[in-house]
Amino acid sequence: MQVVTTDKNLREAIGNRSDSSCGFVPTMGALHEGHLALIRRAVELAGTVVVSIFVNPTQFGPGEDFQKYPRTLEADLLAAEQAGADIVFTPDLQTMYPGYGTPTGVTVDTPPLPATATEPALEDYHRPGHFAGVCQVVARLFDLVMPRFAVFGEKDYQQLLVLSAMVRANDTRWPHLQVIAHPTLRDDDGLAMSSRNRYLTPAQRQRALSVSRALQTASDCETAESAESAMRSLLLAQNLVIDYAVVRHARTLMPLRGTTEPARALIAARVDSVRLIDNAPVAIGTRPDTSYT
Ligand code: PAF
Repeated sequence: MQVVTTDKNLREAIGNRSDSSCGFVPTMGALHEGHLALIRRAVELAGTVVVSIFVNPTQFGPGEDFQKYPRTLEADLLAAEQAGADIVFTPDLQTMYPGYGTPTGVTVDTPPLPATATEPALEDYHRPGHFAGVCQVVARLFDLVMPRFAVFGEKDYQQLLVLSAMVRANDTRWPHLQVIAHPTLRDDDGLAMSSRNRYLTPAQRQRALSVSRALQTASDCETAESAESAMRSLLLAQNLVIDYAVVRHARTLMPLRGTTEPARALIAARVDSVRLIDNAPVAIGTRPDTSYT
C-alpha cells in the first residue's frame, strides 16, 4: 500500500497501477469496522482502491469538535492496508485547499440539497453550512481521484443523499462516477459504529443505546406520528437532548404525505456533549427504498 500526501503523487500512484479504475472511500480517519467495510466493498468493485484521510475543517461549525476529532493515523494506515486499500491519500490543508482562507481558495458549487432549497432540513438545519463543507471537500477529492465508484455509509444518510445529488448534478464533471451506499455497521449492542463513539463513557454508551432502540421501535409502528412519539419517549427516558427524531420520505427527507411512500426514521440526539446520528428504513407505507443514485 502506498501513502501519498500531494495531488501530484496521488495521480502518479493511481496512474502506475495496472488497473487504474478507482474505487474511492473518503474518510476523516479514526477508522473503525464501518469504514473497513466500505474499503472492502470498494475492493470488490474496482481494481485500485484509494482511501483518503483528511479531517475537513470546512464541514465543522463553530464550537463543534474539529480540534478534538480523533486523529489516529498510524493505526488507520495499518487497518486500511489490511482491508485491502492500495493507496491512502493524507493531504494537508494547503494541498486540499490551495489558498485556504484567501479569496482565491478553492470554491465548489454546492448542489441543491435534496430536502428543500428554502427550508433546511435535519442536519442541514442543525449544522448550518455542514453540507457545503462536505460537498466542497468531496468534490475536490473526486477531482483529484476521478473514481469510478465512491462508497459511502448509510449511517450519514442525509450526506449520502446530498452527495448523490451532487454527483447527479455534475455528470459532465465526473461522468463515470457511481455512488455506492453501504449499510450501517453496528456493534453487538446495536450502537451504530462511529468515530465519535469513542467520546462516550461506559455509562453514556448505555444511554446512547436508546438511539438504535428507538429506531427499532419506529419500525414496528404503523404511522409516522406514532413512530416519532415512540422514538422521542425512549430518547427522553435516557435524558438525551433531541435535535430531531422523525420519519421522513426516504429520498426527499420531506415529511411523508401518504402511506405509500418509502420511509426512513432519522435521529440526531445528544448524550451530554456527544452528538449521535443514526437512521433506519421503516416499513410505514411501502417497502423501504434504497435507490439513492
Ligand atoms: O463522512 C465523512 O467522514 C466525511 O463527511 C467525509 C465524506 C469524509 C467528508 O469529509
